[in-house]
Amino acid sequence: MFVGEAPGADEDKQGRPFVGRAGKLLTKLIEEAGHKREEFYIANVNKCRPPGNRTPTLEEQEACFPFLEKQIEIINPKVICLLGAAAARAFLRRNVAITKERGQKIMWKGKILILTYHPAYVLRNPNAQPILFNDIKMAIETAYDND
Ligand code: URA
Repeated sequence: MFVGEAPGADEDKQGRPFVGRAGKLLTKLIEEAGHKREEFYIANVNKCRPPGNRTPTLEEQEACFPFLEKQIEIINPKVICLLGAAAARAFLRRNVAITKERGQKIMWKGKILILTYHPAYVLRNPNAQPILFNDIKMAIETAYDND
């Protein structure tokens, strides 16, 4: 499972997560890792976009989190790859320095969290793309690993 921050304008319009530019990059990296987007459940912490496209507040994240927890309960993923600091903050309930903490596996309620950059960040900082790719690949390998 992949979890992002909140829908952007394209996602709000279509009612589907990661269908805009960031989503296209996510799809491309999943495919470059040898997989298909359809293999994975993709969701967001926040279910609608805060005004002016700002980052959701902690309060807004907490208001939406029960809906995401229900999705996690139904999907029951082994691995949850958290895209960006905002998604990581919602799970860990603290501010996350994503550059320092990405690439690690963190246990959370019996699931493996893997923190990485948000694809929108990588669109602005193309040098970070190989790092996002490696983290996504590691998340997928961990999900399919039988041990
Ligand atoms: N950014 C997100 O965090 N989620 C989306 O669905 C699209 C862009």
